[in-house]
Amino acid sequence: MRAGIPEEEARMTARRAYENNPRLTSFEIGQAIGRSRQAVDAYIADLRAATQMELDLKIFRMNRLGISQERIAIRFDALQRTISNHLAKMPELANLLNTDLSRGFTVAQVAEKHGWTEPMVWSIALEGKSDLDRFKAVNWGLRTWDLWNWNDCEKRFGDDWPGRIPAQMIAHMLYYFSDQNDLVFDPMAGGGVVADTCLAFNRKCWSFDMDDRPDTRPEIEPCFWDITNLKWPIKGKTKPDLIIFDPPYFKKQSNNYDPDGISGMSKANYLKFLENFFALAHSNAKKSTQMAFINADWRDFQNTPAKNETRVNSILINDYLRILDQSGWQETHIFQAPLSSERFKANVVSAMQKKKIIGVTGRYVIISKKKWVVNYSAEIN
Ligand SMILES: C[S@@+](CC[C@H](N)C(=O)[O-])C[C@H]1O[C@@H](n2cnc3c(N)ncnc32)[C@H](O)[C@@H]1O
Repeated sequence: MRAGIPEEEARMTARRAYENNPRLTSFEIGQAIGRSRQAVDAYIADLRAATQMELDLKIFRMNRLGISQERIAIRFDALQRTISNHLAKMPELANLLNTDLSRGFTVAQVAEKHGWTEPMVWSIALEGKSDLDRFKAVNWGLRTWDLWNWNDCEKRFGDDWPGRIPAQMIAHMLYYFSDQNDLVFDPMAGGGVVADTCLAFNRKCWSFDMDDRPDTRPEIEPCFWDITNLKWPIKGKTKPDLIIFDPPYFKKQSNNYDPDGISGMSKANYLKFLENFFALAHSNAKKSTQMAFINADWRDFQNTPAKNETRVNSILINDYLRILDQSGWQETHIFQAPLSSERFKANVVSAMQKKKIIGVTGRYVIISKKKWVVNYSAEIN
């Protein structure tokens, strides 16, 4: 580019170049437009500050979720030193938030003002609080029984995502089956409801999904669970306290998921995948690790009157229980967490009734522990 371009054009070009690629240095941009590094610094100062702030918040979020600086550095293709420099600013940022909260602004207002996500503001606002106080603060009732149903997903937690689950359900799993600061492992994280709920309930959370969204969900690390080569994505000694496994419910929603994902599989492969995954999770779990497995009944009821249905294409809860058992897990609780039937339209319901078709709303949360092997030999001797 010529050195003599007019000032306004140079400024706009520099800004466009930076917006297209924030990794460009001022020196590089300056060379291209014939301006000094200092001049470019001035052109893009506000853009750079905004990018840095966005990065601060992403790094802070990953750090709150217990993701190591080494993994954060890999995620942003940055040096670990750069990550720790960002993290050093965190207490100051949190103070700004706390000041606004103490002035009476709501979490939603503070989130909007500072450009934070709401779950991140909750994680600061609720510091030091008990789980029960956290339930009250986010305005969720606590269920005491084994029926966990909510009509709607909680819009403040997680993204709009096919198969999104209510954050209240995750909060119940956290409350009953983990403690604060425990590590939760979410292998198919989708819209990130688990990570967001963990922020509000002070749990660490490592999330993975084949669908990679580094800009909006850097905390969900890319991972494709490949049935032909299943591997645990994180090496090292740290093992999860609670695994929350919410896979696609066989073919349900398969049109909305990546065709390479497990909802594109045959019934036999889908079950085989689960069996292999449970076995892998078992060998990467501690003695005390618990697993919350969420799944729904699958019956191919679409055009079939109830009495003509066969078991050939269906997957029901006893299939999951059998597979869990085969892979070394023992269920301790089964929660009924039905899908809302309100999503069926009135005309569809009346057509089903005429044809004697029974729909499916059955969904379960199965909590398991590693099987406890009794050593009888001592007694026999
Ligand atoms: C039911 S959704 C999870 C929804 C999530 N709990 C939420 O509330 O937003 C299942 C996720 O599994 C992911 N998935 C399916 N097959 C996969 C595979 N083989 N490896 C990694 N992720 C996979 C999909 O991309 C999808 O996001």
